[in-house]
Amino acid sequence: MKVPAHVTTTRHLGAAYPFVAEAGLGAAGVLVGRDLLGGAFVYDPFVLYRAGVLTNPNMIVAGQIGRGKSSFVKSYLWRQAVFGRRAWVIDPKGEYGALAGAWGVSPVHLRPGGPVRLNPLEAIPGDGDDVSAVNRRRTELSASLAEACLGRSLLPRERAALDLAVNRAGEWARAGAPTLPMVVDALLDPSSDHADGLRTTTSELLADGRDVALELRRLVHGDLRGMFDGPTTPGLRLDGPLVVLDLSAVYHSPALGVLMACAAAWLQSALRAQHDHQVILVVDEAWAILADLAVARWLQASWKLSRAWGVANMAVLHRLSDLHSVGSAGSQQVGLAEGLLADSETRVIYAQSASELERSAALLDLSDTETGLLADLRRGVGLWKVGSRSFLVEHRLTARELALVDTDAAMGGSR
Ligand SMILES: Nc1ncnc2c1ncn2[C@@H]1O[C@H](COP(=O)(O)OP(=O)(O)OP(=O)(O)O)[C@@H](O)[C@H]1O
Ligand SMILES: [Mg+2]
Repeated sequence: MKVPAHVTTTRHLGAAYPFVAEAGLGAAGVLVGRDLLGGAFVYDPFVLYRAGVLTNPNMIVAGQIGRGKSSFVKSYLWRQAVFGRRAWVIDPKGEYGALAGAWGVSPVHLRPGGPVRLNPLEAIPGDGDDVSAVNRRRTELSASLAEACLGRSLLPRERAALDLAVNRAGEWARAGAPTLPMVVDALLDPSSDHADGLRTTTSELLADGRDVALELRRLVHGDLRGMFDGPTTPGLRLDGPLVVLDLSAVYHSPALGVLMACAAAWLQSALRAQHDHQVILVVDEAWAILADLAVARWLQASWKLSRAWGVANMAVLHRLSDLHSVGSAGSQQVGLAEGLLADSETRVIYAQSASELERSAALLDLSDTETGLLADLRRGVGLWKVGSRSFLVEHRLTARELALVDTDAAMGGSR
């Protein structure tokens, strides 16, 4: 016997089946797609933050290859633009060109020896920042880059030498921002005042900072030169609705994480200089940054500033274990990864491989039903965890959007 379908509103359904059926997140925001338990699914981190549903606006998007993570991000940005929201994207695979084209802007192509340079040390004073706070931020970034290049933590004496070199480079640059070559020069030519301050000699101080200088030199004179080793190229258009930094020329470089961190640092300083609010900052293929403990730590610190800066960060990963890939249980890396997850209250999880399910369930505190679902989600369907609430959402694309997000061209186009 066929039982007739029962039709009701999601509000009634939520009351009839508490903890099973959700009533949605409200109607303010962009339409993402269809809530598979009924109704449309609408989301906006800024609105939900103001409503007290979220305590931070950041998002992690994770899922197996080709499940629609980047497509979701692209169409989400496109839809957010209707509300005047701007987006800044780090694009390691060079796949946001069509989206930029639709907006009438050109991606900024970064490649070794190319025509565009960005200065990651451009920490712009403002919002009551004093000079020492700016220097501290520059030192933190330089130390993260140096640690990632060296593949180990800095020794206390190396950190002190770097700190002094960043300060000295700041003095050389006067009103402008110091550059990485200036920091390398300052490391290789320490001042007697700085040496006296540390009760040491200039030759000792030079020896302390030498390894750091030689590693940072790679970004200045080595195979990675010509992208982050000078003042920012004048005339970059930053006022459009979308800024894309295309890093595809260095996608296969082992230093991709370091380069993405440089790009992220520059984006953040440029964003702050524009006093822009309610901007979405996307790091696609963020696993590359997270693979380096030092740059991951720096990224997490930036994540924490998101509320103060009015920035909603989005990181795109393959597996949640990308967050764990370089650390053993209980290690610093794992703590850091969990911190980043805690600082991203919206988690969108596309299909995960069977080997990942257990870890995803533990990290995201998933119910057995949710864990079971993750194994079989089809392309475009994601489990949304928004604060403590869960939704199963089918992301719908319009024909126009499909053309903007297609990464299947080499496979003969999207079905
Ligand atoms: N919701 C959807 N509806 C229809 N097609 C989709 C949808 N989402 C993605 N696609 C198609 O699937 C293909 C792969 O999507 P996408 O590039 O977003 O995957 P991804 O998860 O970012 O993969 P990768 O991990 O390799 O970066 C695209 O060509 C896109 O057109
Ligand atoms: Mg992708």
